[in-house]
Amino acid sequence: MLDMHSIATVLLACAGSALAQNFSNDGNYGAPFPNTVYPGFASDNPVVIAGSKTNQTSPPQYPSPWGAGSGDWASAYQKARAFVSQLTLEEKVNLTTGTGWELDRCVGQTGSIPRLGFRAMCLQDSPVGVRDTDFNSVFPAGINVAATFDRGAAYARGQAMGEEHHGKGVDMQLGPVAGPLGRTPEGGRNWEGFSPDPILTGVQFAESIKGIQSAGVMTSAKHYIGYEQEHFRLVSDSETYGFTIAESGSANFDDETMHELYLWPFADGVRAGATSIMCSYNQVNNSQSCQNSYVLNHLLKGELGFQGFVVSDWIGTHSGVASILAGLDMTMPGDSAVYDSGDSYFGANLTVAVLNGTVPAWRLDDMAVRIMAGFYFVERNTTTRGPINFSSWTTDTYGYEHYYVGEGWTEINSHVDVRGEHASLIRSIGARSTVLLKNVNNTLPLNGKEKLTAVFGNDAGPNIDGPNSCSDRGCDNGTLGMAWGSGSANFPYLVTPDTAIQNTVVAAGGAYESSLDNIAVDTMAALARRANVSIFFANADSGEWYIEVDGNLGDRNNLTLWQNAEAAIDAVAGNCSNTILVVHTTGPVLLEKYENHPNITAILWAGVPGQESGNSIADVLYGNVNPGAKLPFTIGKDRSDYGVDILYTPNAAVPQINFEEGVFIDYRAFDRHNETPTYEFGFGLSYTTFAYSDLHITKMNVSDYVPFSGYTPAAPTYGNFSTNPADHVFPSNFSRVPLYQYPWLNSTNLTLASKDPHYGLPGSVPAGAQDGSAQPIPKAGGAPGGNPMLYDVLYRVEATITNTGSVAGEEVPQLYISRGGPYDPVKELRGFERLSIAPNSSTTFSVDVTRRDISSWSTGEQDWYVRNTTKKVYVGSSSRSLLLQGVLA
Ligand SMILES: *[C@@H]1O[C@H](CO)[C@@H](O)[C@H](O)[C@H]1NC(C)=O
Ligand SMILES: *[C@@H]1O[C@H](CO)[C@@H](O)[C@H](O)[C@H]1NC(C)=O
Ligand SMILES: *[C@@H]1O[C@H](CO)[C@@H](O)[C@H](O)[C@H]1NC(C)=O
Ligand SMILES: *[C@@H]1O[C@H](CO)[C@@H](O)[C@H](O)[C@H]1NC(C)=O
Ligand SMILES: *[C@@H]1O[C@H](CO)[C@@H](O)[C@H](O)[C@H]1NC(C)=O
Ligand SMILES: *[C@@H]1O[C@H](CO)[C@@H](O)[C@H](O)[C@H]1NC(C)=O
Ligand SMILES: *[C@@H]1O[C@H](CO)[C@@H](O)[C@H](O)[C@H]1NC(C)=O
Ligand SMILES: *[C@@H]1O[C@H](CO)[C@@H](O)[C@H](O)[C@H]1NC(C)=O
Ligand SMILES: *[C@@H]1O[C@H](CO)[C@@H](O)[C@H](O)[C@H]1NC(C)=O
Repeated sequence: MLDMHSIATVLLACAGSALAQNFSNDGNYGAPFPNTVYPGFASDNPVVIAGSKTNQTSPPQYPSPWGAGSGDWASAYQKARAFVSQLTLEEKVNLTTGTGWELDRCVGQTGSIPRLGFRAMCLQDSPVGVRDTDFNSVFPAGINVAATFDRGAAYARGQAMGEEHHGKGVDMQLGPVAGPLGRTPEGGRNWEGFSPDPILTGVQFAESIKGIQSAGVMTSAKHYIGYEQEHFRLVSDSETYGFTIAESGSANFDDETMHELYLWPFADGVRAGATSIMCSYNQVNNSQSCQNSYVLNHLLKGELGFQGFVVSDWIGTHSGVASILAGLDMTMPGDSAVYDSGDSYFGANLTVAVLNGTVPAWRLDDMAVRIMAGFYFVERNTTTRGPINFSSWTTDTYGYEHYYVGEGWTEINSHVDVRGEHASLIRSIGARSTVLLKNVNNTLPLNGKEKLTAVFGNDAGPNIDGPNSCSDRGCDNGTLGMAWGSGSANFPYLVTPDTAIQNTVVAAGGAYESSLDNIAVDTMAALARRANVSIFFANADSGEWYIEVDGNLGDRNNLTLWQNAEAAIDAVAGNCSNTILVVHTTGPVLLEKYENHPNITAILWAGVPGQESGNSIADVLYGNVNPGAKLPFTIGKDRSDYGVDILYTPNAAVPQINFEEGVFIDYRAFDRHNETPTYEFGFGLSYTTFAYSDLHITKMNVSDYVPFSGYTPAAPTYGNFSTNPADHVFPSNFSRVPLYQYPWLNSTNLTLASKDPHYGLPGSVPAGAQDGSAQPIPKAGGAPGGNPMLYDVLYRVEATITNTGSVAGEEVPQLYISRGGPYDPVKELRGFERLSIAPNSSTTFSVDVTRRDISSWSTGEQDWYVRNTTKKVYVGSSSRSLLLQGVLA
């Protein structure tokens, strides 16, 4: 979403009628895509490139599937249907439409149903904590959760964040994130999500969803789909930076890449019960994500059997009827193309569209039922939810209920402290997500007896203006506890490495000095010369495209360190033969020269750790926590080794972001092109050592795959409504909030009520879109997450992991599979587990390999199948240390 303070910069993006943003957009745009050749890719197998370049289409798919209450949604649907059956047309519309930007307390708020005492639903950022308020915690970012490779950490963090949102009266937390997946290491928002590996992301995404929802708060799993870069995501933002584009950039990718890579974690999220999915700003194959009937109707609601609702990203809606028929259920923040425009594609337009028969009554009922089913699925109810006790737009105690228009002066913030005991969890995940990359001669752990400890770098210290001084963390001052954008939250405090290490050293009786200005390299060199150990902190930041930091428009411009750290590191390491480097980064940074530097004795990646940053890293440096995390991405030697990059300059009026690499991102690309990385995906050291032995493969007895076949029931409707426009006008004497979105009509004349200059233009309702008769269910569908038989366990793979060192430790054994097809990746992660093992003991690592794990997507059949090839399995401690190998036979 956009910066709350930059409304003025939001220009008209895609005007046009509620019905326009034509359905012909559901296909390819314009000429064939430019054929970019990336450096290092000269030897590409042309067949593979052809495969991923072709079939980049989003063909029309109608009608929009209605929710049936399948899987474990039956009881939620029963309650939702009972609730929606009581509603009037306007009350249903109210559930689907935000009231407008900054017009209520939350970043997004639906209408209410006063007649039934149902208050508005509060939708609030962010994936790291409750945004835009106070007395909330700031959790480690998603990328750190990925690095733990620990399902329990993802769930516990989710539950804690859910509790905090619940405590503030939030109905739906906007997160977690599986898009961006992390196609390019420079991607600005990768840190909000987990990993460029879809399996690791899928697992941690699902656990996060379950955790948050266990606290009785809905999730908005986002951003769906292909949202892999910040540049050109919206016309309005682009204009701010002087780029003129006609429409949001289009992520173009083929059906196989869709299923085997980008859609994969969303399938896990839907299977885990995600209550809503947020459609993204980008287009997919030149159709807007929030009105792309192929990705919403067909893939999400059809194939993945999604039972919750689709909500737009903020002003990501580009039409009314077209979006609704393509599968969008809720528009946020409610305003049309422009914040606080006073009009909406939904609201009164939706009431009109139902009355004039363009949107069938069953479709509106489905929208309302899906929304209420999400509410009941997490066992949220009108009795147990408290009031919304904060305002996103001010931390003052008194303020306006309707902030933007200055109406409704009231006590608006109760400053409820919702942090509970979460600090210890945050500290623990911070430490358990820290990856030890280099540790020469057991430099680490330190014992606290070093005579003089010196700490260096801007990244070790505070932002001297305060941890929350830059709006939405849109600067890189001091240590990187959080990156920038709407995925941020206000710090309750930020423990810096300087503070935490000083406390540790002083308590142990040592001497301590720090030098925190990277420009003062000579001062640093002098201190380093005297120190017994030097610890250098450096960072690389990124964020969301509405904020520019040091010339970076969301996406990073490079993969090197910020804040003049490179020169400062050279000065310190040039003068101290025991220099430890800690990097806080939102993704990969180039570390090859530090890996090779003889004076740099240890390197740690600490990610984006949240409020307890300093305590977490001190725990690792001084051995209170034995590192067990693994890299959730590849650290290459050179930027070009990744084979893909951000499109930084528009290549067409509608920027065409061509995913020509197909599924070959991150380690799949390095494997394919035989590039040796500095540190491979899944790599991470410990203070102890582990041995791998005894691979056992057991074939399970399961029946053959049966493609799903069957039909939905016909679309149900709930309740009746009068078709007389006079029954739907504003109640008399109703006092309106200016600019607010209401479901009622201004006029009994539908044309006037719609205010749509293109009202009633014929011929644009796509074939089948209004058909409420029974529909076939896709072969790969049948339940939330897809055909249940995909999740049958075909093999169990076990191995013995032994701690061969002298201290207890945690290890993440990883299982990779080679599917063996001619265009398949060399290997793909399919299982992992974080194990805690005492010295000289062994534990069994066990992975259930499902049918999905060895399947390939057939674009012809539109189903998964197991190719008749030899499937190899590897178990080891990283993607390139795979000592145990076998065959799935
Ligand atoms: C209905 O949508 C159209 C754009 O499609 C817009 O021009 C009009 O103002 C909207 N009407 C209302 C009442 O918001
Ligand atoms: C494109 O899709 C069709 C079916 O829709 C399939 O038969 C064909 O193999 C696909 N082409 C490539 C290159 O994947
Ligand atoms: C719709 O929601 C608004 C804002 O909460 C409220 O003022 C209005 O009464 C609601 N309309 C109906 C029909 O319930
Ligand atoms: C029905 O109403 C919608 C929403 O205002 C409008 O966009 C559409 O053009 C109307 N269609 C007809 C056939 O009147
Ligand atoms: C709401 O929650 C309370 C307490 O858990 C429960 O007793 C009540 O039945 C719930 N209501 C609904 C409609 O689920
Ligand atoms: C590591 O220890 C070995 C044996 O004591 C020594 O030869 C070597 O120089 C040490 N390496 C470094 C980088 O200190
Ligand atoms: C803080 O960050 C801003 C924006 O990146 C930068 O211009 C400024 O120099 C920084 N201030 C300090 C004290 O580092
Ligand atoms: C990379 O970008 C950062 C942040 O803008 C900047 O500080 C640094 O100097 C850049 N590195 C190089 C080598 O240009
Ligand atoms: C390593 O540190 C020593 C001082 O301890 C210095 O003399 C030497 O030049 C440094 N080596 C490098 C490669 O910077």
